[in-house]
Amino acid sequence: MAIRKRTTKSLARRHDLDYFKKGSDIRLWQWRLALVALIAAIIWLGASAFRSSQAFSSGPISNAHAVFGQKCEVCHIPVVSGMGWLPVVGNRRHVPDSACLSCHVNTGPHHTDLAKITEPCSSCHIEHIGAMHLAATPNKGCTECHANLEVSHGTPSIATHIDSFTKGHPDFRPLRLASAELRTSAFGLKFDHSVHLKKGLLGPVVDGAPQGKVTLQCASCHRVEDARGRDAAHSGLMAPVKFDTDCRSCHTLNFDKSVAEQAPHTTALAALQFLRTGVSAAHPGDDGAMKRAEAVLFREKCSLCHTVSGAESLPRVTNIALETPVVTPTKQPERWFSSAIFSHTVHGSVQCSECHANALTSTSGKDLLLPDIKTCQRCHDGQSRPQGPVLQSGHAESGCFLCHEYHETRPHPVAVAQGSEPPSPAFRLDELLPRH
Ligand code: HEC
Ligand code: HEC
Ligand code: HEC
Ligand code: HEC
Ligand code: HEC
Ligand code: HEC
Ligand code: HEC
Ligand code: HEC
Ligand code: HEC
Ligand code: HEC
Repeated sequence: MAIRKRTTKSLARRHDLDYFKKGSDIRLWQWRLALVALIAAIIWLGASAFRSSQAFSSGPISNAHAVFGQKCEVCHIPVVSGMGWLPVVGNRRHVPDSACLSCHVNTGPHHTDLAKITEPCSSCHIEHIGAMHLAATPNKGCTECHANLEVSHGTPSIATHIDSFTKGHPDFRPLRLASAELRTSAFGLKFDHSVHLKKGLLGPVVDGAPQGKVTLQCASCHRVEDARGRDAAHSGLMAPVKFDTDCRSCHTLNFDKSVAEQAPHTTALAALQFLRTGVSAAHPGDDGAMKRAEAVLFREKCSLCHTVSGAESLPRVTNIALETPVVTPTKQPERWFSSAIFSHTVHGSVQCSECHANALTSTSGKDLLLPDIKTCQRCHDGQSRPQGPVLQSGHAESGCFLCHEYHETRPHPVAVAQGSEPPSPAFRLDELLPRH
């Protein structure tokens, strides 16, 4: 096979070394055309100064900003302040973040302590594409960093190669952390879903006896609590289950046949005080009756649902607080996801068991009943079109913006409404265990 020899010398010989000395027809035409273009540009610019500024616009402004109508200069800041009307000088085509921040004061980027770069506002919030929801940002703005996450110091504490919700997105943290350790620290309540979801469960108790049979629904105990979540319309986490509204009708806190009232369900101390007052009045000086009542209340009743220590035989000392048994905290988290939003209201047409199938068979309060990422991917199937045409039925949006918030400095909507601190969850998973 012949080897083609190519040296720098042979290459140099290909160029015409006298090229710059010759004037060519092509160069002359280049000059003429440039001059024509310049004159045309000046005429166009001059004329447009008298016309609507829409002449420059690349497309209709978003709904949220439509109120600014023709005041282009709120975003396209004049090159020379106050001189935006001047042709040639005019307004800047590029919109600096400072223009957006002059109105949106509280919208800082997230993880500034760890991020290696800063994205300009307009890389995620695309203007001039019409009425679309401006906050429905394309994935690119996120995957710019998250497809290959690097941090300015240390190592990333989260998944580093997320291309989309269906490619590279890890399963949710509570499920990844669903170790025995987590369950023991998270759940203090004894509860058996399968027992309570049986058909024909013994019904509410009146005068010590259950009245008929009932079949409980999920909604008997779980109801959407409003005014949380992203905003009022989209709030939608389940309210924590409450003894007084959800359990007491069947699991009464009576402790003595001669005392009609039930013990309060607040603290063990309050329950004990109530019991002592009631039994002393019904059976004055009868310590046996007192002990029997205490055993019924703490060993039978409270212990059905709680881990109670010190209930075996209550000591008799002068300080009632020291005699009171200790109830292990129940620790129902108000919110499982600390870095994503979720709304039951939005998924109102989906059966509970489609996402929480294991609730039907769960026999322990320590079971984790949350859906995994595959459950979501059935509908949020990656056919994402933020700001694009409406998805066909059967597919749901999968853009990052749908489930995540980006701006950390934004005040919590509830806090804004009430002028108070944002509500904090009963506990956060990341407080219990380090990530990973
Ligand atoms: C709410 C802010 C906002 C307002 C108001 C606004 N623009 Fe823009 N405009 C932008 C953003 C953001 C860009 C993208 C600029 C960038 O990449 O830095 C842009 C880009 C443009 C571009 C360049 C398009 C391109 O493809 O590079 C033109 C031309 C333009 N705007 C004209 C106008 C005109 C004319 C008006 C008034 C009718 C106007 N804009 C009002 C935010 C705005
Ligand atoms: C002159 C003030 C002003 C400027 C400048 C401005 N905005 Fe806005 N923006 C508003 C107002 C007012 C709203 C509507 C707020 C509302 O509906 O609660 C809004 C709404 C938004 C929303 C929410 C839209 C939605 O659909 O929920 C986003 C995102 C946004 N702006 C981004 C930007 C970006 C990015 C820029 C810079 C390119 C910018 N804004 C410049 C005043 C401004
Ligand atoms: C400029 C780079 C950058 C961009 C752009 C970016 N992120 Fe991040 N993101 C980070 C860094 C850095 C972390 C923190 C990593 C760590 O904790 O080790 C992070 C953490 C996260 C986390 C987990 C922790 C938390 O705070 O909730 C989520 C979820 C997340 N980003 C979503 C998004 C979404 C959605 C977008 C697009 C709207 C986005 N990010 C855009 C750099 C970025
Ligand atoms: C009799 C009341 C009752 C009924 C009926 C009930 N639950 Fe629960 N559920 C509870 C209690 C109490 C807890 C809290 C358990 C804990 O803290 O360990 C709970 C917790 C949960 C959780 C919390 C997350 C987790 O992983 O622990 C989910 C999800 C759940 N239930 C789903 C359901 C579904 C779905 C149904 C219907 C099929 C249902 N529940 C019916 C009482 C009930
Ligand atoms: C409609 C009546 C009813 C309601 C409401 C109810 N329970 Fe029950 N519960 C029962 C009955 C009946 C049993 C006994 C079932 C059996 O053993 O077959 C039971 C049993 C239990 C047990 C013992 C389960 C086991 O291991 O056998 C616990 C713990 C319990 N319930 C907790 C709760 C909690 C917590 C709530 C409120 C969130 C609640 N129950 C609401 C009727 C009810
Ligand atoms: C049928 C089940 C059941 C019985 C019986 C029961 N509780 Fe509870 N308890 C609950 C549930 C459910 C919660 C969580 C929601 C709430 O506060 O109502 C709870 C919460 C508590 C709390 C708050 C601790 C925390 O971490 O949330 C205390 C204290 C408590 N119970 C004490 C008692 C005492 C004392 C008794 C007996 C007098 C008792 N409970 C009987 C179901 C029960
Ligand atoms: C359908 C909802 C949904 C969509 C769409 C979605 N996420 Fe998530 N993402 C979640 C949930 C839920 C979690 C778990 C949050 C938690 O445990 O607190 C999560 C967790 C994360 C985390 C933390 C990962 C970790 O290691 O713990 C990052 C980073 C993240 N998402 C980035 C993205 C990016 C980037 C996109 C877009 C390409 C995206 N997500 C799209 C729901 C979604
Ligand atoms: C589309 C899937 C989906 C459906 C349908 C669904 N859930 Fe959930 N559920 C979730 C997710 C995801 C969470 C965790 C959200 C969080 O706390 O951040 C959750 C959390 C819960 C919790 C714990 C408290 C809370 O809000 O975090 C309970 C209780 C619950 N669901 C009950 C129900 C009941 C009852 C139904 C039917 C009315 C239902 N869920 C329907 C996905 C679903
Ligand atoms: C049966 C289909 C289906 C399943 C399964 C499903 N979703 Fe959705 N989800 C939807 C639809 C439809 C919407 C409305 C948004 C849209 O227009 O695409 C939605 C909206 C959302 C939103 C936006 C809520 C808001 O406040 O606007 C979040 C967040 C979300 N889903 C998370 C999840 C998560 C996490 C899971 C898995 C636990 C899940 N979804 C499972 C169909 C589903
Ligand atoms: C990496 C992508 C990204 C960048 C860069 C970005 N945003 Fe956002 N922004 C989002 C996403 C996603 C949402 C919707 C989710 C949410 O509510 O946090 C949003 C929501 C908003 C909203 C409406 C929600 C609210 O706070 O009321 C405003 C206003 C906003 N951004 C302004 C800005 C401004 C101003 C900048 C530049 C300083 C900017 N954004 C930069 C992704 C981005």
